[in-house]
Amino acid sequence: MAKMWAGRFSKEEDKAVNDFNKSITFDKKLYKEDIKGSMAHASMLGACSIIPMQDVEKILQGLESILKDLDEGTLAIDMDAEDIHMFIEAELTKRIGDAGKKLHTARSRNDQVALDMNLYVKGSVEEVKEELKNMISVLVDIAEDNLDTIMPGYTHLQRAQPVTFAYYMMAYANMFARDISRLEDLTIRLKMPLGSAALAGTTYPIDREMVAKKLDFSDPYANAMDAVSDRDYVIEFSSDLSMIMMHLSRFAEEVILWTSTEFGYIELDDAYATGSSIMPQKKNPDIAELVRGKTGRVYGNLMSILTVMKGLPLAYDKDMQEDKEALFDSVDTIKACLPIFAAMLSTSTLKVENMKKAAEKGFINATDVADYLAKKGMPFRDAYKCSGQLVAVCINTNNTLNSLPIEEYKKISSLFENDIYETIDLKNCVEKRASQGGPSKKSVIQQIEKIKNIF
Ligand code: ARG
Repeated sequence: MAKMWAGRFSKEEDKAVNDFNKSITFDKKLYKEDIKGSMAHASMLGACSIIPMQDVEKILQGLESILKDLDEGTLAIDMDAEDIHMFIEAELTKRIGDAGKKLHTARSRNDQVALDMNLYVKGSVEEVKEELKNMISVLVDIAEDNLDTIMPGYTHLQRAQPVTFAYYMMAYANMFARDISRLEDLTIRLKMPLGSAALAGTTYPIDREMVAKKLDFSDPYANAMDAVSDRDYVIEFSSDLSMIMMHLSRFAEEVILWTSTEFGYIELDDAYATGSSIMPQKKNPDIAELVRGKTGRVYGNLMSILTVMKGLPLAYDKDMQEDKEALFDSVDTIKACLPIFAAMLSTSTLKVENMKKAAEKGFINATDVADYLAKKGMPFRDAYKCSGQLVAVCINTNNTLNSLPIEEYKKISSLFENDIYETIDLKNCVEKRASQGGPSKKSVIQQIEKIKNIF
């Protein structure tokens, strides 16, 4: 097929070169963004009297019909075309004739692809935000149902202090809320690149502000060379997506642990678990494991784009075509992981009794024993030591701090009275942790209200 640039060349492009060079197989995903950008560009060309209004009308109608046919699947994308930009322009000219050839006035594929990518990031940010909001609302629902569900909190994966399942879920909800705010922050820096042309702007009297406004950007890029060379927003988005996957993978790890017989804190719904081909008893948390595993590819995509951009001289270099598959893959991966993970959580059953039993073992109220003494005037370090001695007594006599007789307490310190048992009752231990951001019911309810007010 003769190329658009055939004029300067004396030979046709080798088929293998076209296959190697083309990006249509993946940038076909950008057809909506490309058409939207072209429509804004054409309208501006008309408004600035750069091309006649009759041609603009034809271009807009032509692009509209191409969009409709692509949406409905009645127009097949030519997989021999070099990229989506060339394909749409060629199809337009096929449909409307010479007017189609005017669309590329004051434009280059360099600013065109930069616009498409900016628009794609803008749209995908909104989609990912919606999924994060859905995840947060699932977590809030679980939290509201489990304000009194006592479980151990861990450090070093060793039982540490009593918390509630609601508190635990709100920790994750806040992580995902930060992810949303990171995405919102990224959109502040998205700018409109069209009108930068190849790298040095254009001699035509264009109106970049108008195009920016039409496409819902705050401003055009301030420097055209930067505009066509910039892929910072692709890297930032990939980094934000990596952070989301990191959060999801930590959560996935917890689900994997909690569904094990050793923990037994939750049971996955049969519809969200898988069996084994050989071991009939198995119920596996494949979704959580896959989410944990897919974190690897999203991190890999981030490294890949960072490395593609490393050392690239200004302005556009073809290397930059390699940003697309990596970014698309990260976005698709996140959009697959978030909803299925949320559904897996919302359909699972909590084994509240097992959580409580685990909380009763492991001396997770030992800090409260120390605090009891400290509040009666003993310096905290000494109180800490007494509590440690009591734990040792419990271990030797096969007791918990709650079952240890008062005489044993008194042997360690005369400050102990019968009210120690009420003090170290797990429910009270949680309730007394009423510091701002703590696990007490009141505090968790405040945390829930706060997050509900944001979203
Ligand atoms: N397919 C190209 C890309 O994704 C579009 C821009 C091509 N520009 C050029 N001067 N060859 O980066």
